[in-house]
Amino acid sequence: MIVLGIETSCDETAAAVVRDDRAILSNIVFSQLEEHRPYGGVVPEIAARSHLVHIDDIVRRAMAESGIDFAALDGVAATGGPGLIGGVLVGMMTAKAIALVHDLPLLAVNHLEAHALTARLTDDLRFPYLLLLVSGGHCQLLAVEGPGAYSLYGATRDDAVGEAFDKTAKLLGLPYPGGPAVEQAAKRGNAERFAFPRPMRGRAGCDFSFSGLKTAVARTIQALPNPAADTADAAASFQAAVADILVDRTGNAIGRFRREHGDGTLVVAGGVAANATLRARLAALADAESFACAAPPPALCTDNAAMVAWAGIERLRLGLIDDLDFAPRPRWPLDDAPVAA
Ligand code: KG4
Ligand code: ZN
Repeated sequence: MIVLGIETSCDETAAAVVRDDRAILSNIVFSQLEEHRPYGGVVPEIAARSHLVHIDDIVRRAMAESGIDFAALDGVAATGGPGLIGGVLVGMMTAKAIALVHDLPLLAVNHLEAHALTARLTDDLRFPYLLLLVSGGHCQLLAVEGPGAYSLYGATRDDAVGEAFDKTAKLLGLPYPGGPAVEQAAKRGNAERFAFPRPMRGRAGCDFSFSGLKTAVARTIQALPNPAADTADAAASFQAAVADILVDRTGNAIGRFRREHGDGTLVVAGGVAANATLRARLAALADAESFACAAPPPALCTDNAAMVAWAGIERLRLGLIDDLDFAPRPRWPLDDAPVAA
């Protein structure tokens, strides 16, 4: 089974071809970073137009690099949400056109499900597993029981963790996107310099909160006589606070998962899972709890189309095919993923 995947939900225009034996035949990601950088964040209308300009070429390149032609595909998958609606429309319309012309099944993939299932592409994991999903728009802990079968343990009550990284970067005068910039700066910094709060730490349950941390970072930086001199220390102290929060909340989730399913695997996925410090702290937590730990390689944590193609394969195997009139969903919670079209 071979599936073409398309991802256009944010600021990456991406296409990939993946086979059901977990071989990635091609994986092309065009980042629109340079187009959004002057604005310090993703501008939806610019993103939508840029997807439109690049999508045909990116799909052509993914197909060429895979060495197969459209006739050899078994399906075409595209992100159907959640995300910026203009971009999702571009990817979904492209996928529908390919499906129609080549008479292929269409798979409308939930972007979060694509992140959630990536560990099965990279690590051949069995269901169920515990997932910490940390991206620019989401921060959740879930038990992943199968495609379309998720039970939500907890989620952020305010900001997503990637958003907290991006806002902190802005406050520190670091370039967009904030996550990688904060991680780089933190390498040179003293993580104990600033005692930032760890909201929710020690509380029962698996919910998160990052707004208090963000406010504390803002206040601290505004009070500094020369913020530029303290950027590295602030970045390191912020990152340490995030790590402590994630470890505390995930520790509770491991306890709940163990009660429900026994020992298992902790999977860390989503763009923020590219962060080496956070990965190491979560791996150490899993180890201490006798859980296995899996995190896809960083390039498959940040947005890409190989994960969309793989989620398409998982759904195609189960016959979860979508109609050509599928309507993109700007909001699409994972525990609400339709099991059948
Ligand atoms: O999954 P993703 O690529 O896009 C969404 O679906 O949101 O995640 C993007 C988020 C951004 O907030 C970005 O700053 C963050 O992931 N990110 C990181 C790192 N790389 C990307 N955060 C912390 N450390 C990183 N190395
Ligand atoms: Zn994502």
